[in-house]
Amino acid sequence: MFPSTRLRRLRRHPQLRELVRETSLSPGDFILPLFVRHGRGQHIPIGSMPGQSQLSVDRLAAEIREIRTLGIPGVILFGIPEHKDATGSDARSKTGIIQQAIQEIKSVDDSLLVITDVCYCEFTDHGHCGILKEEHGLVDVDNDATLRILQEQAVSHAQAGADMIAPSGMMDGMIDALRQALDESGYSHLPIMSYAAKYCSGFYGPFRDAAESAPQFGNRATYQMDPANSNEALREVELDVTEGADILMVKPALSYLDIIRRVKDAFPELPLAAYNVSGEYAMVKAAAANGWIDEQRVTLEILTSIRRAGADMILTYHAKDAARWLA
Ligand code: PBG
Repeated sequence: MFPSTRLRRLRRHPQLRELVRETSLSPGDFILPLFVRHGRGQHIPIGSMPGQSQLSVDRLAAEIREIRTLGIPGVILFGIPEHKDATGSDARSKTGIIQQAIQEIKSVDDSLLVITDVCYCEFTDHGHCGILKEEHGLVDVDNDATLRILQEQAVSHAQAGADMIAPSGMMDGMIDALRQALDESGYSHLPIMSYAAKYCSGFYGPFRDAAESAPQFGNRATYQMDPANSNEALREVELDVTEGADILMVKPALSYLDIIRRVKDAFPELPLAAYNVSGEYAMVKAAAANGWIDEQRVTLEILTSIRRAGADMILTYHAKDAARWLA
């Protein structure tokens, strides 16, 4: 009790503050999302995500070298294909945009961890995350038909040289289907990072500009989770663990820190990732550009809070800036 207990004692000396710090943050915690587009010589800044660009495959080398120099261990790839169609065939083509990007990155630096987002919204002309069907007057993503093309996409990424796949479509049975497909094709060593609890969020807005993947009608509420739910996230996660997920993910991060904590408490033995999404990034950038917040301070505080909530690793567009500030 006060006055014998004085918590301020441990806050006086800067070195002591460092010694008693409970949460660490380092470039080794980050995964940087990259947008790869068709074409040559393309470096197209994304308006709603200052500092991020769509890059064509031939522009990847310089980016990859910079990422490695900064000590960032991995990237996750999103593709903007030249042609979109109803089933997103570019996504499972040997010469698809992602397959080309993986090969290019591997030829530049094969020590970088290359993760691929396994989903269809960037590849379909309707912008939904799988194959559509009409049932009882509702046009919706056909879960089981989509599982089959997700399997083809995942195996195709593995064949191109991906180090890990990250399915983000929120289909039921997705992890089980992908694990089986990878195992049967000789990729039993390839880990799966599951977007296990992915919410139907307004914070994906800037990403959909960046990836040109906004749904052309309706929304994703029949497959992504309701932001009001928390118990359901544990059910989603538990299923993915049972189906063989190697790493779990909660997405978005900031409005879902409580979910990150619940998942970490429920499955402390599994590595947990959090996706600090495009809208979260855009808000910081916009406020900083207006001089309303200190960008460095706020960014590091946000990333620390995601780690403190229980995330072992963070997918974040701030990765390069934060790595520089932490150096
Ligand atoms: C694809 C996917 C999305 C994001 C990551 N993978 C978009 C979506 O679900 O609409 C969003 C990432 C971000 O906002 O930064 N399914």
